[in-house]
Amino acid sequence: MFKFFIKNSEAGQREINLDENKIPKHIAIIMDGNGRWAQKRHLPRVAGHKQGMENVKQITKAASKMGVKVLTLYAFSTENWKRPEKEVSFLMDLPIKFFDKFVPELIENNIRINVMGYIDQLPEKTREAVNDAVSQTANCTGMVLNFALNYGGRAEIVTAVSKIAESVKNGIIDVEDINEKIINEAMMTQTLTPYNDPELVIRTSGEERISNFLLWQIAYSELVFTDTLWPDYSEENLVNDIFAFQSRNRRFGGLKEEEE
Ligand code: FPP
Repeated sequence: MFKFFIKNSEAGQREINLDENKIPKHIAIIMDGNGRWAQKRHLPRVAGHKQGMENVKQITKAASKMGVKVLTLYAFSTENWKRPEKEVSFLMDLPIKFFDKFVPELIENNIRINVMGYIDQLPEKTREAVNDAVSQTANCTGMVLNFALNYGGRAEIVTAVSKIAESVKNGIIDVEDINEKIINEAMMTQTLTPYNDPELVIRTSGEERISNFLLWQIAYSELVFTDTLWPDYSEENLVNDIFAFQSRNRRFGGLKEEEE
């Protein structure tokens, strides 16, 4: 058991006991609400993204400490290019700032960086920072911190389908060979094997949408939506959300034991 004490609004404390054998192995987070966090403080939206980046460090360390194997963070979607140029440019600088300062701490915590998305379309400096972080942490054997950067679930499926079609065209596989395993292997999460699919998906800020995130991989994921804005999302929120996950009855289309 992992014992946590969570602050209550009435200045009291609530004890939460997490079952350490049921910590979700792969957690994926849609980090939403940076803009609203900044607006509430009469700050420019980018101040929210900066605070959001700071929070990535805190949640990464908390997840790693709890024994999570893969933490996937949706940092930039294929649709985010539609935002004002200044905001896009700020978002593109964030990985540079983040890795510049945080890589030694990641190595200290045995955390490996992985990136999924269309990295070749990122500005050169961002791409270099990402690639450097991947190689600097390549020997770390603990949690994988997986950034979805210029990632989109539908684009990923399109890429996978054309990869598979190419294999059929070149006679490497037959149409009859196409199954879930082949599709799984063509997805960007292939490098995360055996933790390809998140067991728990969390979206912050009160929005209840998936927004083109991991469409194939979330078939059986538990979804938790929390009102907290990402820059305010704390270790306590994470404990609460994992507790909600542990309280659910995951059946994968079957029946729970008592119903058999
Ligand atoms: C959504 O909030 C957030 C994003 C589009 C960017 C997420 C990026 C970070 C949290 C920082 C990433 C850090 C690294 C290290 C790459 P929003 O702007 O849509 O918020 P709003 O809905 O309140 O406007």
